[in-house]
Amino acid sequence: MTSDAWNPDTYERFAGLRARPFWDLADLIDTSTPIRSMVDLGCGTGELTAALAARLAVDGAVGVDSSPAMLAKAEAIGQRGLRFEAGDIATWSAPQSVDLIVANASLHWVPHHVTVIGNWVRSLASGGQLIVQVPANADHPSHTCSAAVAEREPFRSAMGGTPPPDPVAANVLRPEDYAEILFDLGVTDPHVRLQVYPQLMESTSHVVEWTSGTSLTRFFKLLPDELHAPFVDEYRAELFAAVGDRAPYFYTFKRILMSGRLP
Ligand SMILES: C[S@@+](CC[C@H](N)C(=O)[O-])C[C@H]1O[C@@H](n2cnc3c(N)ncnc32)[C@H](O)[C@@H]1O
Repeated sequence: MTSDAWNPDTYERFAGLRARPFWDLADLIDTSTPIRSMVDLGCGTGELTAALAARLAVDGAVGVDSSPAMLAKAEAIGQRGLRFEAGDIATWSAPQSVDLIVANASLHWVPHHVTVIGNWVRSLASGGQLIVQVPANADHPSHTCSAAVAEREPFRSAMGGTPPPDPVAANVLRPEDYAEILFDLGVTDPHVRLQVYPQLMESTSHVVEWTSGTSLTRFFKLLPDELHAPFVDEYRAELFAAVGDRAPYFYTFKRILMSGRLP
C-alpha cells in the first residue's frame, strides 16, 4: 500500500491535454488591474503554477498541495517569487488576503464545496478573483467501469470492504450550484460553464493510462502493490466491453470552469 498514490510521471504523460483546460481557465482572469499575489490550490507538479505566475508577472505565488511526490517535483522549479508548501485544500484559508486563487483539477478531491469555496473567497482581497476547474465526467465508462471493478473481489475486501467512492460523483455539484454559491459569497457576476473537451486518444488503452494518473489513484492508495496490475487489467477489460477496443478513441471529457471576482 502506498501513502502517496500520486505519480508525477504518470500524471504528466498527458500534459498537453491536461494543460488545455488550465489555460482556458486562465483566460477567464480579468487582467485589467494588477494581480500581485496568487495561490494555486492543489498545484501538483507546479509547472502550470509557474507558467501562470510568469504570465501574470505576480510578485509572489504559492503552490499548495498535499502530495509529497508532486511537491518534490514542484520545489525543483526554482522560479523567483514562487514557492510551494504542503497543505490541505479542504481546510485552507489564506493567512493574508490574495489577489488570485486558482484551483485546477483539485477541488473535486474534497467534499463540502459550499464551505471550501467560502473559505477561498473569504481569502481574497477586495477585487480579488477565484478561478476553478473541476472534472464532471463521473458518468463516463472510463469512471463507472473502475467503480464497478472496485466492487468485485479480491479488490473490495483488499480495500476494507468499502471501496472509496468516485470523488467527482460524490463531491462535484451542478454548474448552476456553483454560480449560486459564488453569488451568495458576494461575486455579483459569476461565470460558470460546462465544457466538453474532445480528447483524441491513440486507442482505448490510452484511456487506462489517463485514468491511472488520476481517478485510479484512489484505489491504488488502498490496494496492496500486488493487486495494482490485476485491478488495471480487469478495468481495461471492463472498459473495452463498454466502449470497444478502438484506435483512435475519441474520449469526451466534461469539465466545469468557473470564475468570479469580488467588487
Ligand atoms: C489532478 S492534479 C492537478 C494538479 C494541477 N493543478 C494541474 O492542473 O496540473 C490534483 C492535485 O490535487 C492534489 N490534491 C488532492 N487533494 C488535495 C488536498 N486535500 N489538499 C491538497 N492537495 C490535494 C493532488 O495531490 C494533486 O497534485
